[in-house]
Amino acid sequence: MRAHPVITMDGPAGSGKSSTAREVARRLGYRHLDSGALYRALTFALLSSDLVEDSWPTLPREAFDRFPIRLRPAGAVFQVLLGDRELTDELRTPDVTSRVSPLSAIPAVREWLLDAQREAGKEGALVADGRDMGTVVFPDAEVKIFLTAELNERASRRFLERKGNTPSSQELEVEAGKIQERDDRDSGRSVAPLRKPDGAMEVDTSYLTFEEQVEVILNHVKSLTTR
Ligand code: CDP
Repeated sequence: MRAHPVITMDGPAGSGKSSTAREVARRLGYRHLDSGALYRALTFALLSSDLVEDSWPTLPREAFDRFPIRLRPAGAVFQVLLGDRELTDELRTPDVTSRVSPLSAIPAVREWLLDAQREAGKEGALVADGRDMGTVVFPDAEVKIFLTAELNERASRRFLERKGNTPSSQELEVEAGKIQERDDRDSGRSVAPLRKPDGAMEVDTSYLTFEEQVEVILNHVKSLTTR
């Protein structure tokens, strides 16, 4: 038994998972786990190594032991470390973003990253966001959320986040194409595909403000954890 609840937040790219999970965790005094950062860290480590990309899908799980990737609790978040180095901006470069989804479909990769994620949730008081938090990593979570938003809305948010301005219709189309490709891959893979976990509450954030979506989720958490 955990001392405190685990809240999972799964959903497609750009649905607002990470920012919402961070704020929900902050308001509850919980810690936030961005599981995508672990997949991105391994992608970054592989890209910086001598292991050629073509070989990644056939690497055994032990092959990743050479990469000292770990989570370090730091206040309301977990830092992602590679050795002594904290990884931040390196995790969101176009090189990493374009390779992280194919890498995440490899069963050995998912197995290798499982222990670190479960360890982070051992005591509870955690809000974990990703693709398989409620289905595979924390199937026994007390609260499960599935966050969605319309494709164009997600693409527009992502563009704004990266470039600081709203996209033209052509830019929006390109961004939406990239997001759709990643979603298709994440939902279509045979291991831990992105799907709404049983018992999860679905929140479509297309027409909600950030504050509204945080409130909807906090109310749901309260209704399930104060019974
Ligand atoms: O922030 P965004 O939704 O764009 O991506 P992310 O959460 O950083 O995740 C990057 C990629 O890692 C996803 O597209 C998935 O391929 C993979 N991922 C996964 O397979 N399982 C998770 N629990 C989290 C991320």
